[in-house]
Amino acid sequence: PRVAVVFGGRSSEHGVSVVTAASVLRAIDRDKYDVLPIGITSEGRWALTADEPERMAITDRRMPSVEQVTDHDGAVLLPVDPASREVVYTEAGAVPKALGEVDVVLPLLHGPYGEDGTLQGLLELSGVPYVGAGVLASAVGMDKEYMKRIFTSFGLKVGPYTVIRPREWEQDPAAARRKVEEFAQIHGWPLFIKPTRAGSSIGISKVDGPDEVDAALAEARRHDPKVLVEALLRGREIECGVLEFADGPRASVPAEIPPAASSDFYDFDAKYIDSAEGVVPAPLTEEQTERVRRLAVEAFEAASCEGLVRADFFLLDSGEFVINEINTMPGFTPISMYPRMWQESGIGYTELIDLLIQAALR
Ligand code: DAL
Ligand code: MG
Repeated sequence: PRVAVVFGGRSSEHGVSVVTAASVLRAIDRDKYDVLPIGITSEGRWALTADEPERMAITDRRMPSVEQVTDHDGAVLLPVDPASREVVYTEAGAVPKALGEVDVVLPLLHGPYGEDGTLQGLLELSGVPYVGAGVLASAVGMDKEYMKRIFTSFGLKVGPYTVIRPREWEQDPAAARRKVEEFAQIHGWPLFIKPTRAGSSIGISKVDGPDEVDAALAEARRHDPKVLVEALLRGREIECGVLEFADGPRASVPAEIPPAASSDFYDFDAKYIDSAEGVVPAPLTEEQTERVRRLAVEAFEAASCEGLVRADFFLLDSGEFVINEINTMPGFTPISMYPRMWQESGIGYTELIDLLIQAALR
């Protein structure tokens, strides 16, 4: 089958997507799949790429862009026309025709305009099968407010939160600040202020007191006009992968994310730069392991996911699991938690990619 691997994209997680794509393009089974890599620039232009995975390298691991995936001599390789070594972009706003000519699309995109249902809608309209969540599940997985509302309605426990909507801020910023302070009076400081629709801990602030609220709101609003306020949950961070097989979704062994040594929470650098050492399998009792695996599958079903999801929980000191979020296209390098949890469950990286494509083609 012909597979289009789409990566990069307009969101603040562009760089994470590029790192993921470079790994997947190297590992995907070439005997089985004919691969067409397609980059999307930060501006949203689509770029057809040369497929020379053995020569791919990323110059800047911190925040690579599709234009920064180069060969080892530093020449731009991805996206590039192999003959001219020039980037071949589509017209602004246009989608490459090739996208509709493949058998399946692997959208390795994180964040808005990739993981949020918009691209999935485009693929539905084109009639091309694609890996992962559909329109609804993608949208639910991207909006942390509606995600919590859906989980709650399915009986999954979520932590305390409140939302500051764009209009609330525009009409009365002072009232919005008061809302945060009132939340803190009930749930205590510190609290977290984050963009409602973003990922990879981008735009998140840990707020220790009223003096820090303004800056945190401004930072979150740079990424999303709708802001989420969450209480600090004391407990352990546990993640679990779900993968859809022919007979239904199954959960991986869970992992534990130890508190990052250098930061107060699992932030962008800890996740991608220092590659925070997740512990797989998580040191849990058998009963806790089974419980979190069951909850992960329940979260997958609650949001109507397809293909895959990584479900992130807190195990509170009280012994209760609270769901923090799901990621419908989790980070996917060989050292990312989702592939590592499946590796530990007996499914290697290349096989995992294969199973995801097979699920999309079913
Ligand atoms: N949003 C990032 C990619 C993750 O959850 O792994
Ligand atoms: Mg996320």
